[in-house]
Amino acid sequence: MPDTLFMGQQLYFLPVCASTNSEAQQLLIKNEATEGCLVLTAQQTQGRGQRGNTWEAAPGKNITLSVVLSPSFVAVRHQFFLNMAVSLAVLDLLQEQGLAQARVKWPNDLYFEDKKLGGILIENTINSQSLQHSIVGIGLNVNQMAFSHPKATSLALCLGRELPVDKLVDRLMELLEKRYLALRNGHTARLKYEYLQALYRYQETHDFLVDNARVQGQIVGVDEDGRLAMEIAGQLRYFSFKEIAFVI
Ligand code: BTN
Repeated sequence: MPDTLFMGQQLYFLPVCASTNSEAQQLLIKNEATEGCLVLTAQQTQGRGQRGNTWEAAPGKNITLSVVLSPSFVAVRHQFFLNMAVSLAVLDLLQEQGLAQARVKWPNDLYFEDKKLGGILIENTINSQSLQHSIVGIGLNVNQMAFSHPKATSLALCLGRELPVDKLVDRLMELLEKRYLALRNGHTARLKYEYLQALYRYQETHDFLVDNARVQGQIVGVDEDGRLAMEIAGQLRYFSFKEIAFVI
């Protein structure tokens, strides 16, 4: 059990399921999920990623979970703060495990030395001006040693040792609760500052793809909507998720 007030206190463990995000959605519909409800699985058969991608993870070796939150204190236009809080919580876990150089690749991928360790899929339901429910899906590669994707890696590959997945899940719930409560208590400026400091390739010159063309630029920030602020050829430009790609 995690040492938390509510995060992960209600647990649904499913040995196999299609997607923990989809299972969490069903629990919400049936009114069976309280805040912090954790849906955990050892194997997803239809894991979902961002941009409509699938999320592949070897059974029993990784973290694949979803948490149900009710962030009614987050205005719709500030929803990116939830992404920042969740990304920082996962990053806290990685750094605690010894990966001091882990970073958040905008908007919320977890990276270590140009390889992806994990990803986050947040699905919100909106109630007039604020967030009603958020399903926070987290996939983190822990003990998987081989990947079909050349840019994927795991904690075990990075650290050279296996880690206890259950203990990591408990710790992640503790760190997530801490970051979520910071958000709830209005520490948004601090969250944004820490998110920017943790950002992969922040204030470095790199190649990016914009409209299928390679451009050189620097990430200089994120705006209120979570768009990436870039300086390209002396000009400040803003990009939403599908408008820019990293060249790695
Ligand atoms: C991404 O990087 O594209 C996001 C990946 C998110 C994967 C997690 S695994 C647990 C949860 N359930 C899903 O179907 N997806 C998320």
